[in-house]
Amino acid sequence: METKQFKQILFGGDYNPEQWPKEVWYHDMQLLTKANINEATINVFSWAQLQPTEEKYDFSTLDAIVKLLVENNFQIVLATSTAAVPAWMAKRYPEVERTDFQGRHHRFGERHNACPNSPVFRMYGRRLASKLAQRYGELANVVCWHVSNEYGGQCYCDNCAKAFRVWLQRRYNSIADVNQAWNTNFWGHTFYDWDEIFPPNELGDAIGSDNSNSTIAGLSIDYRRFMSDSMLQNYTDERDAIREFDPETPITTNLMGTFKDLDYFKWAREMNLVSWDNYPAYNTPFSYTAMCHDLMRGVKNGAPFMLMEQTPSQQNWQPFNSLKRPGQMRAMSYQAMAHGADTIQYFQLRQSRGATEKFHGAVISHADTDNTRVFRETATLGQELSALGTETLGGRTPAKVGIIFDWDNYWALEYASGPNVLLKYVDQIHRYYAAFYRQNIAVDMIPTDLSAEQMAQYDLVVAPVLYMVKPGVAEQLTQYVKNGGHFITTFMSGLVDEHDNVDIGGYPGQLRELMGVWVEEFDALPPEKSYQVKFNDQTTSRCDLICDIIHPEGAEVLATYDKGEFYQDTPVVTKNKFGAGSTIYVGTQLADEGLDHLVNALISEFDWEHYTTPAGIEITRRVNDDQALYYLVNNTNEPATIDWPVAGVDLLSGQAVAAGEMSVAAFDVKIVRKR
Ligand code: GLA
Ligand code: ZN
Repeated sequence: METKQFKQILFGGDYNPEQWPKEVWYHDMQLLTKANINEATINVFSWAQLQPTEEKYDFSTLDAIVKLLVENNFQIVLATSTAAVPAWMAKRYPEVERTDFQGRHHRFGERHNACPNSPVFRMYGRRLASKLAQRYGELANVVCWHVSNEYGGQCYCDNCAKAFRVWLQRRYNSIADVNQAWNTNFWGHTFYDWDEIFPPNELGDAIGSDNSNSTIAGLSIDYRRFMSDSMLQNYTDERDAIREFDPETPITTNLMGTFKDLDYFKWAREMNLVSWDNYPAYNTPFSYTAMCHDLMRGVKNGAPFMLMEQTPSQQNWQPFNSLKRPGQMRAMSYQAMAHGADTIQYFQLRQSRGATEKFHGAVISHADTDNTRVFRETATLGQELSALGTETLGGRTPAKVGIIFDWDNYWALEYASGPNVLLKYVDQIHRYYAAFYRQNIAVDMIPTDLSAEQMAQYDLVVAPVLYMVKPGVAEQLTQYVKNGGHFITTFMSGLVDEHDNVDIGGYPGQLRELMGVWVEEFDALPPEKSYQVKFNDQTTSRCDLICDIIHPEGAEVLATYDKGEFYQDTPVVTKNKFGAGSTIYVGTQLADEGLDHLVNALISEFDWEHYTTPAGIEITRRVNDDQALYYLVNNTNEPATIDWPVAGVDLLSGQAVAAGEMSVAAFDVKIVRKR
């Protein structure tokens, strides 16, 4: 079965003692021990201190921090500090700073600021990682490496332009191939030589000032691929440097859910384990957070992940930084665990005194005492987690539904000029995810490039807005359905190839035969407009955003547009029998009631575990060696009564739980081992 990455549930988080005098550290050790914290993530932003000049390295402060943590029995997640360059480096080598979308070369400042293709940055980044690994790699307390921090953003400097051309030369054989791929006869954009190709920022091919539109979307999509690869190379630079001196300790970097800039499926292949930072706003839907957890599990093929950061209570960078209500932080921690987390970590352990994050919550607040609500809630959770021992670690989350999430599609769909500016990739994926979530049906978030055999573990694969169909994808999907699989896709699917050129011959292109429909046109609805669709059983649902005009080619009609438009009474949802399986095409953005109708029909067709619960109450399952753990999480501040599915023992309270009617308190959590 699963290897357990950690010997216990890591419970801790970012800790920055270098911002404080030493007396404070000793006080921290007492307080953190009292809070049942067992781990500290250190050295995230200390490059300036570790290398105060180009010639000099100084590990004395870090040595002292490590020594103190070891003496006090803390496990350590050791970061490499490369997410913010030191001022001397920016002064002596301006190339290490980024050039932005507006073409402005940046001076020293901020963080996450290095040009990923600066040879100076790469050399010094590797060197620092290597020195850290030499010095601390063998320490038993160092249980994980944390490379850099929250990679992301873009650089458009000359070094990046040069590296981009090399990247293009690897991808395309000749400049003629590039011209063909990007359809450059449009607006006379033909390139004669590689050095005529520039990063697509505001000085180049971007349309508008926010990287949302491009003359040549193929170029902009390639640039996003290239930037993701460039930063991944920064990650692997450091990873490989660490590996030279530390052959075993797992290495990660903290990801950010549906963050647009990086193709996390590609990244996860280079990471020993995934970790991520969960910062929902006060009004983020619970289903959205659940989807992010599932995506972070999905990018590494279902492996458990680390919850590297969450705030104990308050954030500082949202427009409205509401407190987590009493009990809410605990519920959110278990929500993460229910979806695959094996660690619970915070940003941060001690609240900083100055600078931009001074009002970001922490375990130890400015009050500097254990006598706070947040401290008490943290300490109680820590106690609970330590009592759980290793029981929850390594659990997998079996799912019969896979939802495709694909960064190329994310980028390409959002560069498309037309048909509707309100069309957003993650929003479309989340609508489908949420429909399954409302019924507590487990979902895996999967990539586009699974083979038919790999997809066969799912009864159903759903690919909302599968706009770009990359080579091999249609073949594998077709084979999967032929063999008995079921597939759902929607409007804005099957439109373009990997270079963003339309597949000629009728939408949805390569998926046309599989779906059994031809989409002749798609209408765009402004936000003030919506229509109604009518299912065969007379159920109705609102629809909006985009309305496809569909001609069935063998597919059966499940729903039509109701009155009001020139396409009234024409098909909008269709079902096609194909080989031993079937497909459903949804030609519009259905409101929740329409998606619920579809999911209910699927539930009666398949034998899925599913549970009806009030909104915001989740039931999920993780399977571990020979046992199944059922997680109940009430994400809401309201008590409720639910129908609980299994008899067993609640690991948190130690009490027996019967199947059947059960009352649930506000923010209640149970982890029930099935009898
Ligand atoms: C991110 C960063 C942390 C910190 C937190 C604050 O996740 O990784 O360094 O800035 O945000 O929410
Ligand atoms: Zn650059």
